Amino acid sequence: MVEIEVLVDFVAEQSAKDHSGHDLAHIQRVVKLSAYLTRYYPQADQNVVLAAAWTHDVLDEKLVSDPTQLRVLRQRLTGRYQQAGFSAPQIEAIYAIIDHLSYAQNLRTHWQLSLAGQLVQDADRLDALGAVGIGRAFYYGASTGAPMFDPELAPRTTLDHQAYRQVTPVINHFYEKLFRLAALMNTAEARAIAEKRTAIMRQFVTDFKAEWQFDEKNQAAQSGN
Ligand code: ADP
Ligand code: NI
Repeated sequence: MVEIEVLVDFVAEQSAKDHSGHDLAHIQRVVKLSAYLTRYYPQADQNVVLAAAWTHDVLDEKLVSDPTQLRVLRQRLTGRYQQAGFSAPQIEAIYAIIDHLSYAQNLRTHWQLSLAGQLVQDADRLDALGAVGIGRAFYYGASTGAPMFDPELAPRTTLDHQAYRQVTPVINHFYEKLFRLAALMNTAEARAIAEKRTAIMRQFVTDFKAEWQFDEKNQAAQSGN
């Protein structure tokens, strides 16, 4: 018997201070999406999926950068997995997921994740897309002091880990990462959702640029004046 609530309490405590879009609500959405995807893949260990979904951001580089703090947090997390009733092989499986899940981690090396890991990765990426994804991108951009848009600055086409973490206009982030995610989904079920959410974002970016470049003549032509 596994008690996921032990992890929920720990994550709630850890994510309470977050102001970069990795708050508890993000985690809860990822848990829900992971549970949804798991229904199509009953052969994945459901408890490992849920544990990885709940804890996938606890050790994230953006939230904890100090190595000592990170080590302590990792020990506490292991303690919580044990307290929740996970076996040593399950804990190993969970770490294999949360250590290799993120987009930033996969820029240099493409990590081969377990099926459980692929489901959580898809769920995490889905939450960067669509209306919520637009909200999170601007929220994150504000937390790093990024401008919304700079028409003079073209989106970068290749990114290593360091470049990925450099401040970039929020609209460029859509080209540099978000529009690419649908093709990177591990499962067909996630890809179907991703395509719908990407269409919403593309429409948003088109409208955003049109409003930014507001042109009096076009406006007059459109309204028939
Ligand atoms: P991952 O956890 O897969 O490495 P991130 O932590 O980098 O992904 O991204 C988490 C959220 O923050 C996503 O919604 C993402 O779109 C947003 N984000 C990351 N980098 C930027 C950026 N430079 N500008 C705007 N939003 C960003
Ligand atoms: Ni996440």
